[in-house]
Amino acid sequence: EEQTSPTSSSSSPPPSSHFIGRKEDVVQAKRVTKLVGGRDVLVLCHQGKLHAMDMRCYHTGGPLQEGDIEEIDGRMCIVCPWHKYKITLAEGEGLYQAVNPSATPPKPTWRSKGVKQRVHQVTEVNRDVYVTFNDSPDTIDSDFYQTERYRATINKT
Ligand code: FES
Repeated sequence: EEQTSPTSSSSSPPPSSHFIGRKEDVVQAKRVTKLVGGRDVLVLCHQGKLHAMDMRCYHTGGPLQEGDIEEIDGRMCIVCPWHKYKITLAEGEGLYQAVNPSATPPKPTWRSKGVKQRVHQVTEVNRDVYVTFNDSPDTIDSDFYQTERYRATINKT
């Protein structure tokens, strides 16, 4: 049960990380959403491993905290409850099923659209869970649903 990783032995949280909660609370809740540093993040525990990503789906902002987790083509994915988009937990890649129409019967295969959801780094220090933002300067599709412009639209309703 106890996992030892290089990061869990350090005694102070990484610089510019954000506190999420106690490890046992996150594990028990399985899903935790929190607004930290101006971003709504989802931290989830699956098979003993913690993952973090932007909370709103890159497609049209669906609540990923309510999604099921499925293994697709050997990769763990969260499935958005709104339109069933599949997002890999580790990389934030959007997966889709491509069908070769010339094959009989048409044979679907899973393909990647590339990174669509911003995934963040999780660190555990003294059984506290912290998230450090993925600061890749490239725009990732899920970024839009973290903007003030988007928040203004949902707060109106
Ligand atoms: Fe997530 Fe459409 S909003 S699949």
